[in-house]
Amino acid sequence: MKHLLKMSDLSNADIIDILNLADQLKYELKHNIPHRHLEGKTLGMIFQKSSTRTRVSFETGMYQLGGNALFLSSRDLQIGRGEPVQDTARVLSRYLDGIMIRTFEQKEVEDLSKFGNIPIINGLTDYCHPCQVLADLMTVREYKGQFDGLKMCYIGDGNNMANSLIVGGLTVGMEVAVACPEGYHPDKTVLDFAKNYEGKFTLTDKPVEAAANADVLFTDVWASMGQEGEAEIRRKAFAGYQINDAVMAAAKRDAIVQHCLPAHREEEITAKVFEEHAEEIFDEAENRLHAQKAVMVKLMKS
Ligand code: CP
Ligand code: NVA
Repeated sequence: MKHLLKMSDLSNADIIDILNLADQLKYELKHNIPHRHLEGKTLGMIFQKSSTRTRVSFETGMYQLGGNALFLSSRDLQIGRGEPVQDTARVLSRYLDGIMIRTFEQKEVEDLSKFGNIPIINGLTDYCHPCQVLADLMTVREYKGQFDGLKMCYIGDGNNMANSLIVGGLTVGMEVAVACPEGYHPDKTVLDFAKNYEGKFTLTDKPVEAAANADVLFTDVWASMGQEGEAEIRRKAFAGYQINDAVMAAAKRDAIVQHCLPAHREEEITAKVFEEHAEEIFDEAENRLHAQKAVMVKLMKS
């Protein structure tokens, strides 16, 4: 594993390896056991979109690993004024030991990995959000003990989160059921990937059907970063694509709820369900820190 560009780059064994290390790093942090695997290393963090969790968890994680993290807003970088990615990648490779990038196009992340010679970590694109899904899988395993025999349900937009959850969930052996309205399906590459998992993947337009007997339910915002102008149209298209009491009644009694955050209460999830499952959701947010530390150690430790 040289980079983390998208979930489909990872095998089941890669994911389990990362999650095992993440669990260990979490234990070490909680017990004040030093784990300074990246002493003297620097991570550059390029942000073309806003962030709370990704920025703070990468920066803190790097500090705990003994390294240093640089916040690089695209507004201030020459990349924002048109300097080509291939030059930026080659320059930053001379200073840094790794780059985390959050941007719009997946191609930009892939290009950075081609032209630079240091590990690239995808911190979210319009296409996918692999760091989030590693934290999600870590949380599911913490609550449920294993992945075998579990059913994951995703309700809402077929966006970056849906794309990564489908690939990640299927790769670790879960059954995955997705409910999206017509016109907002997951990416074609992801639906093609799911064809390799016959009998394990379903796509429907009925949330309650997707939630039937689910062990873990996911949702995400109806309008992602960059889609603010479509918010009104989307509010209409996604009406009913919500995790609420009716959906929870269809799931298993001990089902957990996950949300990558930020959440819009009474849109994709009711305030009641959110608060009833807040512990699970904020454990998921915390696990961003541990899962990403594991990814950085795997990619950046000499
Ligand atoms: N879930 C997530 O990636 O959050 P931020 O946008 O705050 O980084
Ligand atoms: N789908 C959301 C996820 C935010 C973490 C977005 O791209 O804005």
